[in-house]
Amino acid sequence: MTGEVRGLPSFALVLCLVAGLVATACGASTSPEVEVGPAGTPDPVLVAGREVFMDRCSSCHGASGGGTGKGPRLNRGLLEQEYDGLDDAAAVVLGGRRRMPAFSGLLTRNEVDAVLRYIRDVL
Ligand code: HEC
Repeated sequence: MTGEVRGLPSFALVLCLVAGLVATACGASTSPEVEVGPAGTPDPVLVAGREVFMDRCSSCHGASGGGTGKGPRLNRGLLEQEYDGLDDAAAVVLGGRRRMPAFSGLLTRNEVDAVLRYIRDVL
């Protein structure tokens, strides 16, 4: 009886470790959440942009936009450095460029604007 009770803490420890590993693995494949704004809720455009990014872009550009072997880095101010405004970046996303696929017909202009704002403002 006492043996079982003494066994409990280590069982709990193993459970915590496994849960922690699973959480880490899951975290690696999701993109950063949108922070709550002054209105007390996250900006809905950025939330929509995050969905588009996870569905359509992260496979090549990485969950945090850090780039993968299939697509370059987009995060940490890249859009502001490379483009005067989001219109020029939207042209690349809609029309494609070399190995970057064209998204016109797959995404609306609003979705493209939302995902670019998410990349620029959150990633
Ligand atoms: C199949 C892989 C792939 C997917 C999916 C993809 N991209 Fe790309 N993307 C690329 C590649 C490769 C480039 C580099 C293109 C080049 O060499 O001109 C690129 C370039 C870009 C650029 C230009 C970066 C720069 O430095 O000028 C932007 C912006 C961009 N992608 C945004 C997106 C967005 C937004 C999505 C999702 C809607 C997306 N990409 C989905 C592969 C991808």
